[in-house]
Amino acid sequence: MKEIEIEEVEITLFLEALRLRHGYDFRHYSRASLRRRLLGLQRLFGVEHLLDLLPGLMREEGMLARILAALSVPVTEMFRDPEVFLALRQQVVPILRSFPRINIWQIGSATGEEAYSLAIVMAEEGCLSQCQIYATDINDAALATAEAGIFPVRKMAAYSENYRLAGGKGRLSDYCHAHLDVVEMNEPLRRAMVFAHHNLEADGVFCEAHLVMCRNVLIYFDRYLQGRCLALIRESLVRGGYLCLGLQETMDAYEKKEDFYPLERMLRIYRLRSEGVVR
Ligand SMILES: C[S@@+](CC[C@H](N)C(=O)[O-])C[C@H]1O[C@@H](n2cnc3c(N)ncnc32)[C@H](O)[C@@H]1O
Repeated sequence: MKEIEIEEVEITLFLEALRLRHGYDFRHYSRASLRRRLLGLQRLFGVEHLLDLLPGLMREEGMLARILAALSVPVTEMFRDPEVFLALRQQVVPILRSFPRINIWQIGSATGEEAYSLAIVMAEEGCLSQCQIYATDINDAALATAEAGIFPVRKMAAYSENYRLAGGKGRLSDYCHAHLDVVEMNEPLRRAMVFAHHNLEADGVFCEAHLVMCRNVLIYFDRYLQGRCLALIRESLVRGGYLCLGLQETMDAYEKKEDFYPLERMLRIYRLRSEGVVR
């Protein structure tokens, strides 16, 4: 079978068409990972050349959502890196709990596992009723799964182990019910959440937040776009608000990183200094 390849000029032209036609700018995504996603897109549509997709990109309804879904990497799991959730539970939630209302902006929600994990922690720490979790992404298909709150039952053993390591106080099955090969998350968790389309590359601040979770998203971006996202996050945080990045991510691309201090350096949990944005 013929090996599919993509020339750099094709990538440039494709991204330019996507940007000019639909306003989605992927030029600041890390090129190696983007190239792999574009190869996947080409295979998905069974076309010989990436630019064969241009007529569809220009005119077909529904094509944009398929392209965005193919370019995004909605890989996630419940209580991913459980030690981070344990630290949030022990060091951040006790402070957040003192606020009458807690807004959490969970960026790059993918299929929602991270948002549900947060909701479970908030429920166990007795503050879910004062909490609103805004979970955003550019992948509408992933957002639809997240909103439905339905996950494959085969993943529950691994998720339950993560939950235990994250300091879970009961059993993960207390928060969902099984139907054949899927589990559905319980209604009280879902009531605390809003899932919405938001593009970090182009859109403004989504909400005023006491905690922003932006894990495993910046790794796909170049330094310029990482800097833009971190500035957006900084703007959204209330004074003394918290930021949690992925374990492979840093604040290096942000020019005012001294606005934050590391609460848990290795776990990438930061706090905005209280002389930060006054709300
Ligand atoms: C690897 S997942 C991270 C999921 C979750 N945060 C976690 O750590 O398990 C990365 C997500 O970032 C989303 N993403 C990529 N570019 C984005 C953008 N410009 N704006 C918002 N979300 C974006 C992707 O659609 C994908 O769902």
